[in-house]
Amino acid sequence: MIETVISDTSLRTLLNASEISHAFDYTLFENIHLSIKERESIAILGVSGSGKSTLLHILSTLLQPNHGKVLYRGLDMYAQSNRKLLEIRRKEIGIIFQSHYLFKGFSAEENLRIASLIANKKIDPAIIEKLKISDTMQKNVSLLSGGQQQRVSIARVLIKQPRLIFADEPTGNLDKETANDVMDVMLQYVHEKRGGLFIVTHDEKIAARCNTIYRLKEKRLVPVIL
Ligand SMILES: Nc1ncnc2c1ncn2[C@@H]1O[C@H](COP(=O)(O)OP(=O)(O)OP(=O)(O)O)[C@@H](O)[C@H]1O
Ligand SMILES: [Mg+2]
Repeated sequence: MIETVISDTSLRTLLNASEISHAFDYTLFENIHLSIKERESIAILGVSGSGKSTLLHILSTLLQPNHGKVLYRGLDMYAQSNRKLLEIRRKEIGIIFQSHYLFKGFSAEENLRIASLIANKKIDPAIIEKLKISDTMQKNVSLLSGGQQQRVSIARVLIKQPRLIFADEPTGNLDKETANDVMDVMLQYVHEKRGGLFIVTHDEKIAARCNTIYRLKEKRLVPVIL
């Protein structure tokens, strides 16, 4: 297991969110502060409907909050032009969605090749091996199990080598052992690339592997010690 001492002061802040509030039909959260440092992994727990995915979308360039700022390496994300925001999202941010949005009708390998072409980055065969999806490469993704599709979508995100990874229940469809393997891959990635990981999960054992754990509860982020 990879242990990162995040009190190391040479590790810089990648993301800094302050005073974040957001409501749809009702207020989901208010005055949330959160930062992600290089090599830091943050897990968010919370009941269904508490707003975890919404917070992930706000922090990952996808949704402007009603109130508050999100700074990516000092740059105010939602003050940027659409074009600049897209560029940050494309180059720096990797998002693993709750529903994985693979290109249906294409094989797993084709899905990865498309990501590799768009990002202009080589496919690292070690990622495919570590995620144990080598056998799925030639299959149409529609024929893969939910857990296999999830792992292909994780590989697709890692291939573009983002600085920050946002993962929305990335181990939801996986057995314990495979879930741990997936965590190994993501934690090793952020360690090696001095990246950051923000993961939403219902699984306390998975959350416990992260440096920092919060529960989204009563509109606040409450620090959790597991
Ligand atoms: N685009 C939207 N428009 C209107 N309401 C929305 C939108 N997105 C989310 N919501 C509402 O916000 C609330 C929180 O949704 P969110 O998806 O953030 O919850 P969650 O904590 O991720 O839940 P789960 O654990 O089930 O994934 C829900 O009541 C949902 O219906
Ligand atoms: Mg969700």
